[in-house]
Amino acid sequence: MSADGLLLHPAAANYFSALIADEPEILQEIRRHSAQHRLGNMAASPTTTAFLLWLVRLTKVQHYLEIGVFTGYSSTAIAMTLPENGSVTACDISVTHTNVALHFWQKAGVADKITLHLQPALITLNELIEQGQENFYDLALIDADKLPTEHYLEACFRLVRQGGMIAIDNITLNGKILSEHTDTPSRRVMSALNRKIINDMRFHCISLPIGDGLTLLIKK
Ligand SMILES: C[S@@+](CC[C@H](N)C(=O)[O-])C[C@H]1O[C@@H](n2cnc3c(N)ncnc32)[C@H](O)[C@@H]1O
Repeated sequence: MSADGLLLHPAAANYFSALIADEPEILQEIRRHSAQHRLGNMAASPTTTAFLLWLVRLTKVQHYLEIGVFTGYSSTAIAMTLPENGSVTACDISVTHTNVALHFWQKAGVADKITLHLQPALITLNELIEQGQENFYDLALIDADKLPTEHYLEACFRLVRQGGMIAIDNITLNGKILSEHTDTPSRRVMSALNRKIINDMRFHCISLPIGDGLTLLIKK
C-alpha cells in the first residue's frame, strides 16, 4: 500500500511521476476501478511497481510470491512481465478484493500463471514450506497486514532462493512512522523491524524513499 510522492517534496514527486513510462491500459483500469470503490490507496504505487518491474526484468524473475493481492495491481503488472513459464503464488484473505483481481488477471491473459491462496498468508507460507517449496522463489513481495511482517519475512527467507529478493512495501505506514506522536502496534512493529533489518547478516538490505517506502533484501 503506498502513495507516490509521500516522501518527496510535491514538485519533485510530480517531476519523477512524469518520468515513469506510461502505465499499460489494464493497470490504469485496475487503479480506476479501485479508486471508484474508495480502495485506491491500498494498491502499490505506480513508481514502486515500475521499480519492481525493472528489477523483475533485470534479475530475470521467473517465480514470484505475493503476500497481499488486493484488487490485483502489482500481481497483474508482475505476471505480465514474467516469462511464459513464470508463476505467481498469490496470498490474500479477501474474497471481495481478489474477485476483482481474478477479473483483471483474466482480462490481462495472465490468470493461468497465478495460483491464489485464500486464507491467512502465514498458513499458506507454512504450507508452501511443508510442500518443499523452500529456495524456490526469485522474488517475494510483502504487502499485507503489518503486525506479522517479521513472520512473513522469516517464511520468505526460507522460500526465496539464495540471491533472490524480498521486497517489503509501505515501510513508513503512510508517513505514520515519521510521527513521534503516533503510537500504534503497527508503528512499533514496523519501526523496530526497519531498524533491525539493516543489521541482519542474512541479507543485503536497502530501504528506498519510493512510494511509501520500500525495503529490498537480497538473500545471501
Ligand atoms: C496493501 S493491500 C495489497 C496491495 C496489492 N499488492 C496491490 O498492488 O494492489 C493489502 C492486502 O493484504 C490483505 N491481507 C490483510 N491481512 C492478510 C492476511 N493475514 N493474510 C493475507 N492477506 C492479508 C488484504 O486483504 C489486502 O488485500
